[in-house]
Amino acid sequence: MPNDDGMSAQAIRLGDYEVHRAWEGFASIRQISSGEIMHSRTAPMEEARKLYVEQSYLAERLRKKPRNDEPLVIWDVGLGAGANAMAAIECYEKVSGARPLQLLSFENDLDSLRLALRQQPDFPYLRVDATTAILANGHWQSSIDAGLSWRLLPGDFLETMERAAAPDLIFYDMFSTKSSAHLWTLGAFRKLFVACAGRAVELFTYTCSTANRAALLAAGFHLARGRNAGEKIETTIAHTPAALRSSFARRREWLGSDWLVKWNRSAAKFPADVAPNERWAFEEIIRGHEQFRNSPPPKRLPSTT
Ligand SMILES: C[S@@+](CC[C@H](N)C(=O)[O-])C[C@H]1O[C@@H](n2cnc3c(N)ncnc32)[C@H](O)[C@@H]1O
Repeated sequence: MPNDDGMSAQAIRLGDYEVHRAWEGFASIRQISSGEIMHSRTAPMEEARKLYVEQSYLAERLRKKPRNDEPLVIWDVGLGAGANAMAAIECYEKVSGARPLQLLSFENDLDSLRLALRQQPDFPYLRVDATTAILANGHWQSSIDAGLSWRLLPGDFLETMERAAAPDLIFYDMFSTKSSAHLWTLGAFRKLFVACAGRAVELFTYTCSTANRAALLAAGFHLARGRNAGEKIETTIAHTPAALRSSFARRREWLGSDWLVKWNRSAAKFPADVAPNERWAFEEIIRGHEQFRNSPPPKRLPSTT
């Protein structure tokens, strides 16, 4: 049946995805089964630039050439409709003389990208040449910049991550715990921590959930506050221990003992895979985390009596 703008309902749906129009005017992709919208309150590219590209200081990292010219590796976890991937490519193309960049995108259902490409005028950020190549061949090589390449790892991220080159940056943009609980578990983040292979890695994600942050901490990451996004007052930046030595670490706002106090009081402090009989040990890991050892005690509110 044609809708208001003359397109058939068929044309704006594909598999489990449909085009969603925000009242602010931009289009994004909605998963029909869960109702979750990718980049719901902010235009896809605005959020992609703000949360992932700018916070990771990607342009600055690309300007710093390592001696062996090895590529910077970004894991784009949850390719979806491609906004985060396009923002990384856009950033690369603006830096002259950048070091090589290898963008690795993980996705287990390409229908959202296919749909966005089919409706490309609604998703003007999508590069038709690159997206067509990634969908057809799982690979795109920039014809202008020899150092810029993009590869797709199709399938379940928890399995495909084992075959990927270790990352420098991770854009972790999975659906929420409501529909993808297993991707926010202690088990998932432990696996991810191992896949970082002792390297200096920073992970950027839109969540600020207490349980998700606790899962990242218990897996071995150190956490800083990320800037706000849409309705979320803050987001999260996770660092491997090796990343704490980088100059970028000095610019972060680290979670301190005030967060620990909040976590202690929280009714939702455990990730889904921590069984009741494992909770005590989990609490010990969080309370003993190196991140909080030198953290100043939380500020006390002045007494009113
Ligand atoms: C929030 S959307 C990503 C939005 C995307 N980053 C963008 O910029 O448009 C999450 C994506 O993760 C994918 N996904 C969910 N579970 C996955 C899994 N186990 N492995 C790989 N991809 C998964 C979904 O199909 C969906 O496309």
